[in-house]
Amino acid sequence: MTEPLLEVEDLTIQYETDGGMLTAVSDASFTIDEGEFFGLAGESGSGKSTIAKSIIGGLDSNGQVTSGTIRYRGEEIQGYDDKQLNEAVRWKEIAWIPQSSMNSLDPLQQVSEQAIEIGQVHTDLSNVELRDRLKEMFDIVGLQESRIDDYPHQFSGGMQQRAIIALALFLEPSLIIADEPTTALDVIMQDQIFKYLDEVKSELETSLLLITHDISVIFESCDSVAIMHASQVAEYGSVAAVHDNPRHPYAFMFKEAFPDVREPDRELEVIDGYPPELIGDVDFCSFIDRCPWATDECGQRAPNMESVDDDDPTHVAGCFRKDEAYELYQSERDHARSEGHSGEQTTAVTEGSD
Ligand SMILES: Nc1ncnc2c1ncn2[C@@H]1O[C@H](COP(=O)(O)OP(=O)(O)OP(=O)(O)O)[C@@H](O)[C@H]1O
Ligand SMILES: [Mg+2]
Repeated sequence: MTEPLLEVEDLTIQYETDGGMLTAVSDASFTIDEGEFFGLAGESGSGKSTIAKSIIGGLDSNGQVTSGTIRYRGEEIQGYDDKQLNEAVRWKEIAWIPQSSMNSLDPLQQVSEQAIEIGQVHTDLSNVELRDRLKEMFDIVGLQESRIDDYPHQFSGGMQQRAIIALALFLEPSLIIADEPTTALDVIMQDQIFKYLDEVKSELETSLLLITHDISVIFESCDSVAIMHASQVAEYGSVAAVHDNPRHPYAFMFKEAFPDVREPDRELEVIDGYPPELIGDVDFCSFIDRCPWATDECGQRAPNMESVDDDDPTHVAGCFRKDEAYELYQSERDHARSEGHSGEQTTAVTEGSD
């Protein structure tokens, strides 16, 4: 088997805060192969952007990787400084479309100047060639080629976002990290960008780490998915496996909180409560307070990620009750429906069950 492009292994990331060390990511593991589209989903605050930033060396100054490794093409990069990251990883290998792209363009430089600067450092192309390439990318993201010489403030928010995407694609990187790349865009533009990413995938073997809270986007466009809840990866596997056979309560409730074109009449799930504030080590399941099927064990240690399917070792979930929870959920939901109740009331049925 060929080496994965990116390997994240047992990654823990903490932020220093007034209240203590806040754990944003706890023991997260996943890999991305060459050409693979990988989706990272989970509600707000679950740690998605923190993972993205750690890969590209962009953690806020109060954040640090406290354990675990990030390997890119087999090289450990989590300890790299800015210079090493610029030489080895950024732009040419990994391009990052940050979550709030508004601040990531330099307001004092034309977009073309910014692109040429990046291109001069990382390629042997002439300025004319670089400008031509940028025009091509502008065209792809639906911006007029003539606008490459504009300053960021001359663009609307959505146009700035597209200019950032054009810059990310500009050097044809091996991995694109796109953190909520289309949330500022209208639906037509979103579709167009995903269509382009599909083309990139078939032609260039580019990999994608797509971060979004909207799992239906991932089901439509990715090969594999990890679903995070409050710093922990709850479930991870191929899109088909996680879509058709989810095992972690958060994963299936989260999935069922979104509309699905394949099941247009389904009621949408509501997950009660909020994710916890995590100060110190997370040595328990972070979903415990919201999980209708939690037992004492869930509070005593963090569940390991374990295979849920003998035929598919890549499909893993971190739940002590992974073998029974989904069936319990389904039967309770069916029961509630037949009684004429909404799905939300299913939780009461299971309280205290083991
Ligand atoms: N600089 C920081 N200092 C302290 N805490 C932080 C900092 N940045 C993020 N956090 C905390 O880390 C956790 C994870 O944040 P992160 O931004 O990675 O979440 P996210 O999954 O990307 O959320 P969203 O979907 O809202 O973008 C949250 O609890 C957040 O409050
Ligand atoms: Mg984020």
